[in-house]
Amino acid sequence: MLKLKVGVFCMALVPAVAPMVAQAEGDAELGAKVFRKCKACHAVGDGAEHKVGPALNGVVGRVMAAADGFDYSDVLKDMAASGASWTEDELAAFLEKPRNYAKGTKMSFAGLRKEADRANVIAYLATFAE
Ligand code: HEC
Repeated sequence: MLKLKVGVFCMALVPAVAPMVAQAEGDAELGAKVFRKCKACHAVGDGAEHKVGPALNGVVGRVMAAADGFDYSDVLKDMAASGASWTEDELAAFLEKPRNYAKGTKMSFAGLRKEADRANVIAYLATFAE
């Protein structure tokens, strides 16, 4: 009887957990290494300032083009004006090919080809609050 209950419990649990597993969870530590590719243009963490690109503290989940004092491209400003924000999905799409995602972006970076690199760097960025 007990066995049956456990079995039912597990089956009930699987659908709830599966979507989380299916969406590649990023590893922030590996993401710190990926972020080396971004450091020429971006700073993040305590005292981060704008460089060629905006400082990235608090960027994950925030409205696009919202860092104070950074002069964004028109395309990002337009997307922000229509209410778009940097969900993990939007970030992943942008980082895969910035210039395809936002035609006219000032971010001259080819992109991160590997899905794992994208997920990891997003997990890393998510560790920095505003
Ligand atoms: C050659 C310089 C350069 C490199 C390399 C670069 N970026 Fe950028 N990034 C920029 C610039 C410039 C912008 C502003 C884009 C605009 O206004 O269109 C930007 C914008 C962004 C934004 C949007 C910020 C906001 O406030 O809306 C994110 C997120 C971002 N970059 C992440 C990254 C990550 C992660 C990497 C490394 C994988 C990276 N960038 C590599 C220059 C760069």
